[in-house]
Amino acid sequence: MGNVNLKINGLNVTAPAGSTILEAAQAAGIKIPTLCYLKEINEIGACRMCVVEVKGARNLVASCVHPVAEGMEVQTNT
Ligand code: FES
Repeated sequence: MGNVNLKINGLNVTAPAGSTILEAAQAAGIKIPTLCYLKEINEIGACRMCVVEVKGARNLVASCVHPVAEGMEVQTNT
């Protein structure tokens, strides 16, 4: 699997394909608040605490379960 390039809060971020927006943000030092998320234990996207805005998406997405995609533009602070 290769890497995916995306933007988070206008910052260029590279993340491994298949990782979540949350993991990509954390790797880039961007904090997203989470509540129900526990890596590999509880990845259900239930509490919606970690929602972010993805350009072009109709709804806010839960960053702890939503995978990154090439060219994605994410805002965590809107
Ligand atoms: S941390 Fe609960 S939905 Fe993502």
